[in-house]
Amino acid sequence: MNKNKLLVIGSLNMDLVVNVPQMPKVGETILGENFKAVAGGKGANQAFAASKLCAEVYMLGKIGTDEYGQALLDSLNSAGVNTEGIEKQSGTHTGLASICVNSDGDNSIVVIPGANNTCSKEYIYRHISLIEMCDIVILQLEIPFDVVSYIIEIAKKMNKTVILNPAPAPNSLPDSMLAKVDIITPNETELQKLTGMETNSINEIKKAAKVLLDKGVKTVIVTWGDKGAVLATNNQFKVFPTTEVRVVDTTAAGDTFTAAIAVAISENKTLGEAIEFANRVAAVVVTREGAQTSIPTKDEVENLFNSNK
Ligand code: RIB
Repeated sequence: MNKNKLLVIGSLNMDLVVNVPQMPKVGETILGENFKAVAGGKGANQAFAASKLCAEVYMLGKIGTDEYGQALLDSLNSAGVNTEGIEKQSGTHTGLASICVNSDGDNSIVVIPGANNTCSKEYIYRHISLIEMCDIVILQLEIPFDVVSYIIEIAKKMNKTVILNPAPAPNSLPDSMLAKVDIITPNETELQKLTGMETNSINEIKKAAKVLLDKGVKTVIVTWGDKGAVLATNNQFKVFPTTEVRVVDTTAAGDTFTAAIAVAISENKTLGEAIEFANRVAAVVVTREGAQTSIPTKDEVENLFNSNK
């Protein structure tokens, strides 16, 4: 097996999670059922997941000097992620995410970026040797947008594979950025936001994905909740259904899906094989509570699916 090095650059958040019977409406006060602080952040979840799935993973990102920051570092270290490049920033707090999870397992998330917003081009440049050393660079959009653009620019100049999980999704992405992205992994809502097109049916998803392909993205992989995932390239279009499971909490399912795609690509799997693997991993994540607490090892995924055959 060819084991490439993966570099995740992005956010680290402590998730402050409350279970609610249903999402509160505007102006409404409701009672939650319990409260937990769980290691999260889209970037950290992706790094944690890729490492659990057996890749060699490095992460760049910023935390505060508080206890939450240390707990997030400990979590990544426990999964085997190389965290030497993660810096502690004084004068701000570690990123926080306020999360409500309803009885269907759906979530609603508000991120307070804190130290994530101090990721600067200078910080990235200080760690440019990590970008040079790694084969695949994985990004999301919870650190400043100009820094993500800068990373994509330099990663592409170095001929790296760039995977962008466009979350939280902006209303559009510059064509110059899209042209440098090898794989983009929006969910159908993010695809709708990015393209301004409806994504309620497979035909609509196909048309919206084509807009991104026409702007130069090489591969679009749309996560489609309990329907699985959709692959769109200039010569392939295919739906990959997923296994039906009892959903407890969908937090970090998309992050783990993106990480699993990166791991499979690093092992020279085909795009189809990568999506089938990522679907299996995400199907496990949604049956468990929390972000990093829900992410399985590669062996767990293989054992669960082999025992269900
Ligand atoms: O994708 C889930 C993640 O989004 C959470 O862990 C939260 O921290 C936010 O970044």
